[in-house]
Amino acid sequence: MKIGVPKEIASDETRVALDPKTVGLLTKKNHEISIESGAGVGSSFSDDQYRKAGATIVPSAAPIYAQSDVILKVLAPSDSETEAIREGGTLISFMSPHKNPGTIAKLASRRVTVFAMEFVPRISRAQTMDALSSMATLGGYKAVLMAADRLPKIFPLMMTAAGSIPAATVLVLGVGVAGLQAIATAKRLGARVEAFDPRPAVKEQVQSVGATFVEIPVEEDVETAGGYAKEQSEAFLKKEQDVIAERLPKVDVVISTAQIFGKKAPILITLETLKRMRPGTVIVDLAAEQGGNCEATKPNETVVVDGVTILGPTNLPATLPNDASLMYSKNVMNLFNQIFGTENGQPDFEEEVTKGACIARGGAIVNDIVRGIVEG
Ligand code: NAI
Repeated sequence: MKIGVPKEIASDETRVALDPKTVGLLTKKNHEISIESGAGVGSSFSDDQYRKAGATIVPSAAPIYAQSDVILKVLAPSDSETEAIREGGTLISFMSPHKNPGTIAKLASRRVTVFAMEFVPRISRAQTMDALSSMATLGGYKAVLMAADRLPKIFPLMMTAAGSIPAATVLVLGVGVAGLQAIATAKRLGARVEAFDPRPAVKEQVQSVGATFVEIPVEEDVETAGGYAKEQSEAFLKKEQDVIAERLPKVDVVISTAQIFGKKAPILITLETLKRMRPGTVIVDLAAEQGGNCEATKPNETVVVDGVTILGPTNLPATLPNDASLMYSKNVMNLFNQIFGTENGQPDFEEEVTKGACIARGGAIVNDIVRGIVEG
């Protein structure tokens, strides 16, 4: 097949959909790969590396869009990129449907078959294609490093001739993939770590990585069949806010990752609570794009309230582009092989992963959640 990889054009996007090694694996299977010149520069991959791996380097994106059977991208296409994708072609990319309903409608109307990385089913068999998890792992790691950099203290316990310095306390709110990696990273740096998540399975996971689970009685059914958290009741969130408010004056760092798929993130730290926290405390709010877990969070900004610093980064994987692109490439290649590695080389839309990831084909949006978002 003819596979095309254009350079990502969003201003803060440094990742690329395929790294040279993955290009080599695909060309060995007789796929023809075109890479836009400079597409890998942000991730430290040169045109030469791609060329050596068997790709054709193309000076601009237009011919790639015009000639490729399948376009591989990191972020959803812009308006102009959407127009450039061949009618009836195929796109594999993150699609952020809540941010891009118009793009998805346009792609469907141009009969593009769209596979969205967000909708790869989270089943064991598809773990090698799970880019959400790959990127969340990097986000959880980097969030802790950002906090450590901002914190006017050190993380580990230090006994020195000048006295003993106690370990910093880190509270992780929301223990999915990002939260678990944040716990592991903070532990490695020597912090004391506490964590909370309303899903019942999480307590054991938190304890198994050496952190303390914050006990909040959860009486409601909080987990969907797919393992995601459900939206909690007002009463539960109030109880959670109160328990957290008790803990916050004693912590140095909060990494918050609490999210409900497709909804505004729950507010766990109110403006009122911020006033009770110690000056110098750092909050890294990984839910910033979904409205934030802290009432003061502003996406991609640093806000200081009464001496508490609140960071709201929205694309941390792009700050680790080399590893992020290596992981994303593997995920994309595995999904590509799953979709097109059939006997006749055509997608089997009844197969669970292909069906789950496909959000548009044959001129229609075929995923109920995405259709709901696009149709408002
Ligand atoms: P996410 O990014 O959607 O949400 C982050 C975390 O926030 C979740 O753990 C959620 O329970 C938590 N949360 C929601 N409301 C909260 C509240 N009020 N207070 C505190 N925390 C709150 O989650 P992510 O990382 O995408 O993982 C979601 C699920 O998918 C998990 O069950 C995970 O085990 C599962 N999963 C399964 C995989 C597989 O089998 N292939 C791969 C990756 C994840």
